[in-house]
Amino acid sequence: MKAHTAVLLLTLGLGPAPASPDDNWAAPEAEKVRVNPVPHSEKDVSRGRSLYRQHCELCHGREGRGDGPSAKLHARNARPPQDLTRPEIQANMTDGEIFWKIGVGFRENKKIVMPAFVDEIPSPEDRWRVVHFVRSLEKREASR
Ligand code: HEC
Repeated sequence: MKAHTAVLLLTLGLGPAPASPDDNWAAPEAEKVRVNPVPHSEKDVSRGRSLYRQHCELCHGREGRGDGPSAKLHARNARPPQDLTRPEIQANMTDGEIFWKIGVGFRENKKIVMPAFVDEIPSPEDRWRVVHFVRSLEKREASR
């Protein structure tokens, strides 16, 4: 009975903390509160869109629904990207958090879940433009 309880707690994620911060993809508080310094202009969003198409669409899908061709590989690991067109998912992330996630990427058990983009998209302004575009994926605009 006791053993069963322990197994149950582990299954629920209440067991020991993850081995490394990489296994727990939570942005530090100071990053979360960062405000997008790039103006929200049509030109900036459109630059964000072309970077997204180049670097992100493969996994996240053209409209951000988490249905890019590579998302299937992730679904097998039960960690597909979320549907970024859903308002409740958008509401759960701050701009700073999205920016941080794009920069550092995410590895789990030493395997790349999402690549880090600091080298591929070296300009911080460009990464903030991608954040603007990610915001524009929310349903009302994605369904155009
Ligand atoms: C190799 C596939 C891959 C690429 C390329 C990729 N991502 Fe991701 N991304 C993922 C996966 C998988 C997750 C979900 C990770 C998790 O929570 O376990 C994710 C999560 C996210 C999240 C958090 C919301 C969510 O779905 O959990 C954001 C925001 C995000 N990605 C943005 C981007 C942007 C912007 C780019 C391009 C600059 C990008 N990603 C490129 C695979 C990818």
